[in-house]
Amino acid sequence: MDFAGSHILSIAQFERGHVERIFSVADAMGPYAQRKRVTKVLDGAILGNMFFEPSTRTRVSFGSAFNLLGGEVRETTGFESTAIAKGESLYDTARVLSGYSDVIVMRHPAEGSVAEFAAASRVPVLNGGDGSNEHPSQALLDLYTIKNEVAAHGGTLDTLRIAMLGDLRYGRTVHSLCKLLCLFSRVEVQLVSPLELRMPAEIVEQMRTAGLKVVESDQLEESIARVDIVYSTRIQEERFSSREEADLYRGRFRLNQSVYTAHCQPNTVIMHPLPRDSRDNARELDDDLNDNPNLAIFRQTDNGVLVRMALFGLVLDVADQVEKHSREVNWYTAGRF
Ligand code: CP
Repeated sequence: MDFAGSHILSIAQFERGHVERIFSVADAMGPYAQRKRVTKVLDGAILGNMFFEPSTRTRVSFGSAFNLLGGEVRETTGFESTAIAKGESLYDTARVLSGYSDVIVMRHPAEGSVAEFAAASRVPVLNGGDGSNEHPSQALLDLYTIKNEVAAHGGTLDTLRIAMLGDLRYGRTVHSLCKLLCLFSRVEVQLVSPLELRMPAEIVEQMRTAGLKVVESDQLEESIARVDIVYSTRIQEERFSSREEADLYRGRFRLNQSVYTAHCQPNTVIMHPLPRDSRDNARELDDDLNDNPNLAIFRQTDNGVLVRMALFGLVLDVADQVEKHSREVNWYTAGRF
């Protein structure tokens, strides 16, 4: 794949070299994300940020990433604020919006919808999450975080041991992350979920075919005992037919400080794509872990900006020009990062 001008729709597009290139560009974005320098490399460019499902992190971090590269952002949120509510097709929407933008990020509740939109778009489209299918930029930022976290303890991606907990059936972040881990054949994966919410069989098969060791279980304690990363996920209530049905599974696998202390190794890193469900009947990742230094959830969200800057830089073919268009910041920034 040549990044320049490409849509980013699925992890299936990537070989290991592509991922390493994204991570290397993400590393170089540090001074800009940390407001030590500003760049105007995308001066005049417009991002169409189209979110037809709720989002905090993905929408705002894609927008911030584009702004940090010097570009401008036009946004729409929810169906009701667009002509789709009047019956306009994805095809027409894509033809129109791609005339107003240099690149588009889109989130949509239907699987395959972002690819359908991209097929009609005249500019690159990045998948911000399509139903329960994929969330490729989340998987990239997750793997970038995992690489940095395990490196801090002398580990590598090639020898990674990871447990994924929760709603593995509908969780698009874990679908994309599992596909991405297939590029690292010695990885060991514990998949921990209620029986009804297991990882789709074709993804498990894909991991095994790639050489990964995969164990499926519904037992939390033993599954998190010998791993480098525990990756917790929320029950994806919006994919169930009713809130009551989601309630059957909420709170089934709770990670809190006492469970962590009793069952995890001291350096085990705790991750979650967020949002975590903080309601009393859920709490899959308890607030009492907030002071645990191995809680990496906000390092993940910070890394999301770096990785999304890297994706824009590569897709718009300016990754090697960022520094040339940069200068130091004018304002006071000490202590933010
Ligand atoms: N992780 C994630 O996709 O978060 P948002 O739904 O807030 O974008």
